[in-house]
Amino acid sequence: MHRREFLKSIFATTTLVSMADYSLFNPSYLWANQENMFTSSLPIPPLLEKDSNGLLQLAADYGESEFHEGVITKTMGYNGSFLGPTIRVKEGDMVGLNVHNKLQQVTTVHWHGLHVPAEWDGGPHQIIQPGDIWSPKFPIKQQAATLWYHPHAMGLTGEHVYQGLAGLFLIEDEISTTLPIPKQYGVDDIPLIIQDRRFFEDGSFAYVRSMHDVMHGVLGNYLLVNGVLQPTQFVSKGITRFRILNGSNSSIYRLRLSDPKGMSVIASDGGFLERPVAVTELIISAGERAEILVDFSHLAVGDKVHLLVDQYSGGSYEAIEFVVTNTTSEFNKIPEFLRDQQQLLAENATNTRFFSMETMSGRGRGMMGGGRLTINGKKMDMNRIDEKIILGSTEIWEIVNTSASMMKLPHSMHLHDVQFNILERNGKEPAPIEMGRKDTVLLWPDDRVKIIARFEDYTGIYMYHCHLLEHEDDGMMGQFEVVAKKPVQL
Ligand code: C2O
Ligand code: CU
Ligand code: CU
Repeated sequence: MHRREFLKSIFATTTLVSMADYSLFNPSYLWANQENMFTSSLPIPPLLEKDSNGLLQLAADYGESEFHEGVITKTMGYNGSFLGPTIRVKEGDMVGLNVHNKLQQVTTVHWHGLHVPAEWDGGPHQIIQPGDIWSPKFPIKQQAATLWYHPHAMGLTGEHVYQGLAGLFLIEDEISTTLPIPKQYGVDDIPLIIQDRRFFEDGSFAYVRSMHDVMHGVLGNYLLVNGVLQPTQFVSKGITRFRILNGSNSSIYRLRLSDPKGMSVIASDGGFLERPVAVTELIISAGERAEILVDFSHLAVGDKVHLLVDQYSGGSYEAIEFVVTNTTSEFNKIPEFLRDQQQLLAENATNTRFFSMETMSGRGRGMMGGGRLTINGKKMDMNRIDEKIILGSTEIWEIVNTSASMMKLPHSMHLHDVQFNILERNGKEPAPIEMGRKDTVLLWPDDRVKIIARFEDYTGIYMYHCHLLEHEDDGMMGQFEVVAKKPVQL
């Protein structure tokens, strides 16, 4: 079967089969159709400005949000009640931040996709105690990309992200600021943070983790874009750029436009592709990003285009409505070329490692005990280093989704510290949209993916894990330590 058809059939069959016993449809949850129906405009997260000392100030705190009219939901956010401001920096900048934990629990802030010293990575070792301020400082040593930030405390990541702690982290460079593509943040360069949530009938978030929720992820039956249900966004005739983050806990989304002309993917997790790739749909797993250009120029003023989102083993949504205005964008042509992307070459790798993402019913534990979500048969242990990597080396990681036949689950493998290239997916060259820089890669059941990465600049401890956050929190995570080459003993 052709791969695309195969993916389509995964979406189609799983939706039907799982409906019956799916905990998403638990009767105690608020269950209605998305009732907002394009009444609110798309909120744009504000750009975070430096203070008078040149520092960026972030505070994680509690808040209240109104997702359903007249119903208050308790949430968390950075500098606000839900989500956080967009941080925008330039390659070569030195970035200093103060992160204030105003929660009554520990948290961390991890810069997902950023290549930073291990001590400032914001992983489970960089805990911020309640009331404390953490002040990371790091240089931006990578090309333009759409990255993001979110908490990463052991066992609490899923809960904190679900409550609303997440924001975008954009890097610009010489190329991104000169390419003939839209680049006015919030005007023609629009962030779309897509997340699903489920609610109890009183309006509170239903973040509970049954065994089923741990295995399948906590999936919601309401779709939020930048924190609201079914927003509207006006677009000019011509080209608009969207920076899409799948900021959901565990959902895999298939995105399409109701207008069949489609979209062109211009960037993956870690930056621009060499050239735009025209697609009619885009599959994006939890933690991944994509930038797309959409050409609205053939439409008439007042025409409406919907972004359609199908959630793997969940529902289908009209996520956002674009309304074409009578203004004309300065861009009406999709460029042919974006930038040179030096692929890492397999022949430069000095080591190969093997990772098996496993769902097994462990002995004496079984599915009723939560099953066993492991990498190479191990659950995360903060006191164990799983892999040691020599600084400066290039390695191939071969990752397999080894699902037991009873429990076929997708996984989304993420590495800290590096942006990698995908060398192979199931023995074949990856699809063009997977040929760029990546930090997170989706593995359907039984998929086998080979990636290549260069571990440079920094030594220290970094994480690799499934980015389905309920899997991560259940221990589907490991640690690699980048170590300096041993000096030769004379
Ligand atoms: Cu986005 Cu280790 O995480
Ligand atoms: Cu990360
Ligand atoms: Cu997983």
